Amino acid sequence: MAEKLAPTRTVDGVHYHQHEIVIVGAGGAGMRAAIEAAQGADTAVVTKLYPTRSHTGAAQGGMAAALANVEDDNWEWHTYDTVKGGDYIVDQDSAEILAKEAIEAVIDLENMGLPFNRTPEGKIDQRRFGGHTRDHGKAPVRRACYAADRTGHMILQTLYQNCVKHNVKFFNEFYALDIVMTEVDGQEVPAAIVALELKTGELHVFQGKAFIFATGGFGKVFKTTSNAHTLTGDGMGIVWRRGLPLEDMEFYQFHPTGLAGLGILLTEGARGEGAILRNASGERFMERYAPTIKDLAPRDIVARSMVQEVLDGRGAGPHKDYVYLDCTHLGAEVLETKLPDITEFARTYLGVDPVTEPVPVYPTAHYAMGGIPTNNAGEVLSDNETVIPGLYAAGECACVSVHGSNRLGTNSLLDINVFGKRSGRNAVEYVKTAEFAPLPDDAAAFVKGMVDDLQASTGTESVAGLRRELQETMDKNAQVFRTADTLTEATKVIHSLRERYTQIAVFDKGKRYNTELLEGIELGFLLDLAEVLVYCALNRQESRGGHMRDDFPKRDDVNWMHHTMAYLTGDRKSPDPADHIRLDKKPVRVTRYEPTERKY
Ligand code: FUM
Repeated sequence: MAEKLAPTRTVDGVHYHQHEIVIVGAGGAGMRAAIEAAQGADTAVVTKLYPTRSHTGAAQGGMAAALANVEDDNWEWHTYDTVKGGDYIVDQDSAEILAKEAIEAVIDLENMGLPFNRTPEGKIDQRRFGGHTRDHGKAPVRRACYAADRTGHMILQTLYQNCVKHNVKFFNEFYALDIVMTEVDGQEVPAAIVALELKTGELHVFQGKAFIFATGGFGKVFKTTSNAHTLTGDGMGIVWRRGLPLEDMEFYQFHPTGLAGLGILLTEGARGEGAILRNASGERFMERYAPTIKDLAPRDIVARSMVQEVLDGRGAGPHKDYVYLDCTHLGAEVLETKLPDITEFARTYLGVDPVTEPVPVYPTAHYAMGGIPTNNAGEVLSDNETVIPGLYAAGECACVSVHGSNRLGTNSLLDINVFGKRSGRNAVEYVKTAEFAPLPDDAAAFVKGMVDDLQASTGTESVAGLRRELQETMDKNAQVFRTADTLTEATKVIHSLRERYTQIAVFDKGKRYNTELLEGIELGFLLDLAEVLVYCALNRQESRGGHMRDDFPKRDDVNWMHHTMAYLTGDRKSPDPADHIRLDKKPVRVTRYEPTERKY
């Protein structure tokens, strides 16, 4: 094994490798892709983290699939819920693929050995989740397949074991920082990924025929988030800097139940099992906002309702700034067996026992609906429809788009499996006839320059300080409720932080595990992505799904029923994003369901 992983050559201290398929990221999407890819081609995974530490492991409540194991259900209802949940800005052919292939995706995992919870008859058990309904919204349906509240953890372990079985080559703790594009027959194609090996500080160039980005989200632009520290949008940032577009970046999801003040996720599966949201006076307030499915309305609606309760003075606690998740009627056995992790989180982090007390909760930044645009094959697009041969993306870093402006809970673990698998399979087909694109003389030059500049910096700005200011302005100005004023304020702050970023201090001049350097690079990606998010949010003058503009409170299908495409162009130093970000429209593919008023 060690010999196979050795570089093909080392030139000026830079190590060169060659693999047919190079996957960036070892979360669920990356590893699901790798399992397919490794069965047909020589496949390497380059990952910032050790694979089983990837953020998929933090996903709790379940993976949607209309198995109909415990209640009547079918993929058409699932498609409908996904489209309506995304407030109709979902590409409906993609949502149909997601819902149809969900069933096979769950069976695949079962065959790989995933220990799902079972019904008494031995079938995979299913629970309720927000926005998943029977017969087009009539009542909540049990559609989420789950493994207690550790579904993501189980998926990650299962996929990793199967990657090992299929001899996937892992480059663990290699931080990908650039994609090298080159022109072949008049077309830009990917030639290599450049990564920093964290253990040694040395640079590695991974030449490939096909590349799959599966680098996850960028929740660390916000202060209150369920995302791990590592979720800094590296993959999106890499392609953005190379001039490729990002789609629908204004649509960011806030999960209703983060532990108050901390953001740590308490699964929606708790409400699926019957937990109830209450305000300070104990009222079940979701009855007023979503009379049919109440606490199991989609996340955008529940999160907004919670914030509205607080704004209207019905919040709980000394500062009246949270609401309660009441699980007390579920009983100790349900909590300890079906929701053991969140029960322990509440005890450990807030000193509250969900068996006997309601848990303080507040919305937490959770998931990017937007990302690198792809088609249904997982191929990355350089505009509304042009495929970049050999480049794929899957999972949270990608925008297919199956989630529109608001993802349904449990459709993320599904997305990584369905579109991870599709990307891996299609990459194998592609490399059967593709050649390695030629490498430029110094493929690592851009990354070397970036790393050297940061290490040579004599600036005095602290990375942690700038990150904190970024996160604070994003929480204050670009969260659940937004206006032109708040977004303009965020734009100004981000511009000033981007200027100050050129003066950051990296005191550690060493090479081995230089986490100060790592965090400095990550902050650069976060600043770039925050700027795009805010600019796209300012541009979209309507409210839809997770994007709520107080100054434009209605959905406006006449003017805004299209995706946003953002491109980096021009003068990046200008304070006005319009000078360096070009926005364009992309039509939404409507196949089955015309947009209607979204009632729950
Ligand atoms: O609430 C949860 O368990 C989160 C699931 C998801 O984001 O899909």
